[in-house]
Amino acid sequence: MAIDCVNHDYYLLKGDKILALIRRIFKNSTEFRHDSLKYAARFAPFIPFIGGRPDLSEKLKCRITFKDRSCPLYLSSPIILAAGANKTASRISDFANLVFGGITVGTATRNFREGNPHRPRLGFLEEDRSIYNSMGLNNDGIEMISKRVDAQLTYAHKAGMSVGISVAETPGLISDDIKLKDVLESFAIAYKAADYVEINVSCPNTGENRIDLDTRFTELLFSEIMNFRKTQCPRKAVYAKLSPDMSEHQLISTLDILSRYGVNGVVLGNTFPSRKIGELPMFSKYEDLKSLRADGDKGGISGRPLYQNTFWMVQTVKSRYPEMSVIACGGIDQGCKIYDLLRLGADAVQCYSVVAFRWMPAHAMRRELSLALKKDGFAALSEMQSKE
Ligand SMILES: Cc1cc2nc3c(=O)[nH]c(=O)nc-3n(C[C@H](O)[C@H](O)[C@H](O)COP(=O)(O)O)c2cc1C
Repeated sequence: MAIDCVNHDYYLLKGDKILALIRRIFKNSTEFRHDSLKYAARFAPFIPFIGGRPDLSEKLKCRITFKDRSCPLYLSSPIILAAGANKTASRISDFANLVFGGITVGTATRNFREGNPHRPRLGFLEEDRSIYNSMGLNNDGIEMISKRVDAQLTYAHKAGMSVGISVAETPGLISDDIKLKDVLESFAIAYKAADYVEINVSCPNTGENRIDLDTRFTELLFSEIMNFRKTQCPRKAVYAKLSPDMSEHQLISTLDILSRYGVNGVVLGNTFPSRKIGELPMFSKYEDLKSLRADGDKGGISGRPLYQNTFWMVQTVKSRYPEMSVIACGGIDQGCKIYDLLRLGADAVQCYSVVAFRWMPAHAMRRELSLALKKDGFAALSEMQSKE
């Protein structure tokens, strides 16, 4: 059955208007605003009308299985909090209070990084319900992040979440050998701790050449990663996170490589390079991305305008690589979008920008997803997935 791409909207409720007010109040401290999500997650159960607690009911439970028998991923719902929202991997289980079914922490590099030096590195485009950022992979380094994940994984599982670690190459490395060694070391450390590992080959914020545009290095990298994984027990899922600005030809060439080496899945996709803002259906213009100017215009756009492209990528990949696990990411802010993407064959979705624009977004999207399932006669998500 053909599924149309509809950018489903939502009504602005009281909580969403409160969030808009908070964004206005903190308009000069956008990074603080961004960072405050962890406090919302921590205190959600204690704030009377938020009522945030993990939701372990059966209705939206989701299990991602893999053809090569990698360990399945168990999620209390198909809504995963995307990389970037919890870069430090601190207090992971708190995010179950916001009813996320999983979380990707990081992105982590081999060592601690401050990220880009200019401030602010983040801005909101209100009219587009969009965020632009050029954080530049600020993180505590893979050893620290993996140690934190390791210590918290059992709690996260009890709260209904699977935990992935996102890793990327250290920006600025020149030689392929050193780059390869760097990513492999980070991967090996992350692999021990996480339920799945996401290789971020598409960060537009560091100004270095992106790996996913270099077919030769992509092939080298994933052949080494998957060779390493063959030596490991248990076998855990490996995802590649790709950029949303790829042409169909680039996307297919990359997927050919990933499927050849047995990579389990793809996250589609990362932030959209801000230089190409004109390709997105947006009111904002390149000139509006003021804070990125200071750092040579590196950066990416996230949020609602990415959705049509996300839909297209998922459709393209699932129609040609049905065995590949797909996690859709980009502009997902409404439960009906999740429903449509799951029907296209995505196993789950990731989202991030929506937390800045919708009050308790995973609660709201769960409600919308449940209604969409009910409307089509499904009592539970598993029922729909077994029929599709
Ligand atoms: C402030 C910010 C920081 C981000 N940091 C990362 C990151 O470290 N690693 C990564 O893979 N993606 C990162 N992303 C991209 C998101 O994970 C996601 O792919 C993108 O925002 C599209 O999803 P969305 O439209 O739901 O926000 C970041 C996004 C934002 C807005």
